[in-house]
Amino acid sequence: MQGFWCITAWAITTTWCWGQTAPTYYENIQPLIARNCSSCHRPGGIGPFSLLSYDEVAAKGTFIGKVTKSRYMPPWKADPVYQSFRNQTILTEEEIDLIQQWLAGGMQMGKVQHVKNSSALNTVAKPDLVLPMTKSYRLTDQAKEDFRFFVIPTNLRSDAYLSAIEFVPGNRKQVHHSRVMVDSTRKIRGIDGMSELDPRIKEFQTIPLADEFLYGWVPGNTKIFFPPGSAKRIPKGADLILNIHYSPTSSQQRDQSVVNFYFAKKPVLREVKTLTLKESDIRNQPFFIEAERRPTFYMDYPVKKDMAVISVMPHMHFIGKSFLAYAVTPEGQQIPLIKIDKWDFNWQTTYQFKKLIAIPAGSIIHVEAQFDNTSENPMNPNHPPKNIGYGWNSTDEMCNLVIYYLDYQEGDELIDY
Ligand code: HEC
Repeated sequence: MQGFWCITAWAITTTWCWGQTAPTYYENIQPLIARNCSSCHRPGGIGPFSLLSYDEVAAKGTFIGKVTKSRYMPPWKADPVYQSFRNQTILTEEEIDLIQQWLAGGMQMGKVQHVKNSSALNTVAKPDLVLPMTKSYRLTDQAKEDFRFFVIPTNLRSDAYLSAIEFVPGNRKQVHHSRVMVDSTRKIRGIDGMSELDPRIKEFQTIPLADEFLYGWVPGNTKIFFPPGSAKRIPKGADLILNIHYSPTSSQQRDQSVVNFYFAKKPVLREVKTLTLKESDIRNQPFFIEAERRPTFYMDYPVKKDMAVISVMPHMHFIGKSFLAYAVTPEGQQIPLIKIDKWDFNWQTTYQFKKLIAIPAGSIIHVEAQFDNTSENPMNPNHPPKNIGYGWNSTDEMCNLVIYYLDYQEGDELIDY
């Protein structure tokens, strides 16, 4: 069979065989770029250039060959062998080879085909409720990182049921990431505009939130939408609390970011619930990381009712090192959830499962989270390292696994939406 072997790029749609014609842009490359790159590399996206047309892709051809081969692009932190996700941007070895073959073959264009960009699909629907920050925030021109809290009152007169949620940065250059929380007490309003460095933050932090992680946004994240017939409930009158990380700037900049709500159009049969494994669930307390140590913390959560898991979002700060989560059923079967070997504070996301993952009652969800508070960790915010404890500030630490799930119903693991 020498001289006739095949490369299957993704699913069944793109197969290229030696002995056939060389790969072409329209047949082989464009679908791969649309799926893995254009969510960021498009006009207005966070990538430094657009990769939507043959000319744009060909102009960067060699560069694309390089960054895909080294796996620098697309950025994706979870181990794809351990578990795969619907919002995954990752290239298989075969796809990386395909790009190399395309380059070697002179970047042929092939027959023009129109394939929709996946990112375009996500921008069709209009939000039902647009919630901008109440005023635009002015960043100073001191070249420092800036972590701020903002409060957006929703003024909802009744509970809202969301089929999708989206965060849109007002200033794409400056907004580095953002976390959206929900407060139904309205007692956190005083935090609006405060810096993380403000000592008064500690007081607000003692007020229990209705939702500690409604949504976490990082560059490249598009809106999260829930399985058909399900929705996330936002209590009437609730406030959104934003924690935004701004990148350093040497010029005066402004930001007025927006949270978009998409209301469920069809009857909501099931409520999306959030389970947050947090620092108090840690088995080997206290959650305190001494300087020059690399401790691993273990969380165990006993599942009381059958769950159908939609997504997981691990969360740690700068000195997070690795994160592993899995469930073990009463029969001892392991259900892989997520494995991140090289934690990267800068690329956190909501990992959405391809199909819902059923976890039966009586299972235990296990988390193993390692931290590296040594001077060898280049991400360590302290030089020399200092003892670090729990806190909202990025220079403090957190250890969370945020799980969106539904109460399980027969057949849930087959739902592909
Ligand atoms: C989640 C968003 C995201 C996705 C998906 C993504 N990129 Fe990028 N890309 C970026 C950002 C942001 C930068 C600039 C910062 C950097 O270089 O890290 C970048 C930089 C690049 C660069 C320049 C690297 C450099 O050293 O200057 C190339 C080339 C590139 N991307 C190609 C791709 C290709 C090809 C894909 C898909 C296979 C892809 N990117 C997917 C966000 C993304």
